[in-house]
Amino acid sequence: MGIPESIIQQIVAKVDFLELVGQYTSLQRVGDRYRGLCPFHQEKTPSFYVQPDKRLFYCFGCGKGGNLFQFVMETEHLTFPEAVRKLAEKVGIRVDPDDEQSLEKGRKQDALLHLLKRVAGSFHYILMHSSRGVTALQYLRERGLEDSIISKFQLGYAPPDPYWLKKFLEKKNFSAEFLQESGLFTHRNPNRAFFVDRVMFPIHSSQGDVIAFGGRILSGEGPKYLNSAESHLFRKGETLYGFYQARDEIRRTKTVVLAEGYMDVLALHQAGVETAVAPLGTALTPLQVRLLKRFADRVILFFDQDEAGLQAIRRAAILCEQQELEPFAVRAEEYPYKDPADFIQNGQKGELQKIVKYPIPILEFLLKKISLKKDTATHPGNLLKVEDLFPYIESMVSEVRREGAFAQIADVLELDRESIRKDFHRRKWIPAPRMEGQEEKKPEVVQRTPELVLMILSMESRKNFEEIRSRITLDDFEDLRGKELYITLEEMYRQEEWSVDRVLQSISDEALKDFVLSKLISSEFKTNQEKLINDSVLFLKRRNLERERKQVLKAIQRCEKTNQGEELSRLLEKKMYLDGELEKLRAVENE
Ligand code: CTP
Ligand code: MN
Repeated sequence: MGIPESIIQQIVAKVDFLELVGQYTSLQRVGDRYRGLCPFHQEKTPSFYVQPDKRLFYCFGCGKGGNLFQFVMETEHLTFPEAVRKLAEKVGIRVDPDDEQSLEKGRKQDALLHLLKRVAGSFHYILMHSSRGVTALQYLRERGLEDSIISKFQLGYAPPDPYWLKKFLEKKNFSAEFLQESGLFTHRNPNRAFFVDRVMFPIHSSQGDVIAFGGRILSGEGPKYLNSAESHLFRKGETLYGFYQARDEIRRTKTVVLAEGYMDVLALHQAGVETAVAPLGTALTPLQVRLLKRFADRVILFFDQDEAGLQAIRRAAILCEQQELEPFAVRAEEYPYKDPADFIQNGQKGELQKIVKYPIPILEFLLKKISLKKDTATHPGNLLKVEDLFPYIESMVSEVRREGAFAQIADVLELDRESIRKDFHRRKWIPAPRMEGQEEKKPEVVQRTPELVLMILSMESRKNFEEIRSRITLDDFEDLRGKELYITLEEMYRQEEWSVDRVLQSISDEALKDFVLSKLISSEFKTNQEKLINDSVLFLKRRNLERERKQVLKAIQRCEKTNQGEELSRLLEKKMYLDGELEKLRAVENE
């Protein structure tokens, strides 16, 4: 049984972190940090740092780092609950409830599940049968969804009145205190609903209990999607949207289709692909893959048809291969639609079904992205190099499979098999991320992207995030890791809390965690924050404008060939607009 978050917080508040660490190594103050010889590896010059404000440690030598619990886990070789108990004892806090208390906790959990189920039912009723839900229902129908799918996934609508839910539930005799802990209301104002004027997607556990919600904005400002905060019922990195609805079919076919978002899952199910699931806005995690492995042998990856989608496919393929789930990809680039939801919106149910029926092995898919490059005139784009395949090949568990891969690459690209193998073993390329529990820890190198810089500055202060989110949205982000952090920070911002530790705990990607920790501990982002924010924001804006401009130019060329006058003038206007925006940016940059 998990230890309640509130108890963990109490322990954190009571332990003197500096004193704790000081028992293992002597620390010297440098600026706002402390430095000492690392207790985890042999060294002569100190590269171990403690940041007492944030209660974090990190060693630039061996890469170990984390919060006070991780420190105790590492020094005493304990599991997380053991470390919590040890520290609890030290500061005199009781962790293990007696029987009466644990019974009470079980009752509370049941009550919470009951509440979430009831709320999902009410949201669904409002969407389908109340006049308040008309606009939302119309929106879903315009996106091509049929009522049967809306009901299968029990979609709903959270009304615009932020005080409605509280009044409604009070009438049903739920106590105010209990409601406050349900995650359905904001921290600051317990009468105000967390989800307001949004299309609601209940998120189910594998057993079918409603454990959280995702909500999509309909109009107005705010993030496109919001998810319930994590709780002991709901861990994003262990949950897949649609898994409950897809489970039986996944078991029957031994196949699962993995898409990017809520709407894609619905679209696929509507096309009869009843094995579709999606992660919840973050990159796929090893725990999610493990869940799938229990039911399936094959994973068909169906992500967005863009650069970020290709990046996501490559990462997901590695995770699947590491757990011996065979990865496939769909061939959708011939179609003018960016994701499964787009197919349905355009009435292409049959085509969507067909695409999923004939997927190709991931290596074949990636090889096409390389061989296309020979012919850049007809297939432009940022495609792949041979060594980009190496992390995937490295992740293969079977040597035979790896040999097969070398043979296939040699064959398709007309290269010498032996040279490919030699290049592979030279290992100048960036290796695949390791799974937890695997021996040797060689962290993958995380590139310092402007997206990550912005997110680290946000973790330095809530005020920075406030400024950043006012200038740039999630859609401006390309770096997947940056996106993942943005989503978590936005959720925290909405919850009106700001805890760096919580963000760190939510990161499932070891390499990213390492990167973030090392940056937070170093003083790199302490000064010049204004300028860093400004430069990064401008960089992203410019990059996106330039990309859009390139696409417009290409479309203009196509139009000129085919003599589409009306479309052409629309595009020319767009180009003028983009040129103007770029000009404005240039002026700002030169100030
Ligand atoms: N997501 C999220 N929080 C956000 C944005 C996205 O949790 N602020 C997650 C959602 O699960 C979403 C998925 O990431 O379904 C994909 O996001 P995105 O591509 O931005 O959404 P679309 O699929 O384009 O959404 P829609 O089709 O509804 O416009
Ligand atoms: Mn999408």
